[in-house]
Amino acid sequence: MTSKLVGKVALITGAGQGIGRSIALKLASEGARVVVNDLDAGMADATVDLIRKTGGIAVPCVGSVTGIGFAEHFVNVATTEYGGLDILINNAGYTWDAVIHKMSDEQWYAMIDCHLTAPFRILRAAQPVIRALVKREMEAGQRVMRKIVNISSISGLFGNAGQVNYATAKAGVLGLTQTLAKEWGRMNVNVNCVAFGLIHTRLTTRAGISHANIEGREIKVGIDPELLATLERTIPLGRGGTPEEAAGAAYLFCIPESDYVSGQTLLCSGGLTGI
Ligand SMILES: NC(=O)c1ccc[n+]([C@@H]2O[C@H](COP(=O)([O-])OP(=O)(O)OC[C@H]3O[C@@H](n4cnc5c(N)ncnc54)[C@H](O)[C@@H]3O)[C@@H](O)[C@H]2O)c1
Repeated sequence: MTSKLVGKVALITGAGQGIGRSIALKLASEGARVVVNDLDAGMADATVDLIRKTGGIAVPCVGSVTGIGFAEHFVNVATTEYGGLDILINNAGYTWDAVIHKMSDEQWYAMIDCHLTAPFRILRAAQPVIRALVKREMEAGQRVMRKIVNISSISGLFGNAGQVNYATAKAGVLGLTQTLAKEWGRMNVNVNCVAFGLIHTRLTTRAGISHANIEGREIKVGIDPELLATLERTIPLGRGGTPEEAAGAAYLFCIPESDYVSGQTLLCSGGLTGI
């Protein structure tokens, strides 16, 4: 364990597996105290256990980011448990694909709610807490930098057939990021975005197509292995990324070295610059 983030309080949504879990482990390994959210209680607890086993500090916060009152609860867990809020990663999400003429309103709103409205609500709930902390710090003559990292996708940047709901929500994340970078600059908050390309997680598993129960719905996850192989051939680095590599990109926006970087979107896609 090194110590770049000692004393920091980090909140991460969807941290029970995949990229979110790797971000949680990475930030904890640098000394951050982590609030681990996931829909799935068992997975949130498993991430917390992993962090604690390696000497880190973490607490679970189980629930759907789309739930009424979730945002306030999430922020409250951080302030009650650890007395602050320094890093917030809006990561939770999944895909629910269809071409537009076969897409239901339910499918459309599920993606907008999870990928865009939930981050908006969490950030809105965090604002008064951050403002109060900043006021105190400024009165004491201190400048403490805070970090927001919103997770987007190459689908949001370039569009992707079959994902009009997800791509639209992930494109909205860019607007959310750029606007809050302007609103929150005076509070010393860096607001940035990481847009991932193909990262090997449950969403894109090599094991082929299966189903996952997400908020009571059977959602298709995984990619057909042949399609996956074709996709990987279009990536300049020749392969999808690991969750650890994805976490590395988010981590760059959480450390002091990026204190003067705000309103940016970083592509973490193995060199892919379009689809
Ligand atoms: N894997 C990729 O190739 C890829 C590419 C681009 C963007 N992304 C984005 O990265 C983020 C993480 O995806 P991943 O690949 O790690 O997926 P994953 O399925 O491996 O993990 C996502 C986690 O989020 C949780 N989650 C889903 N909906 C939730 C909700 N409503 N409330 C709380 N938790 C919820 C799930 O339970 C799961 O543990 C997502 O926002 C996704 O859109 C992933």
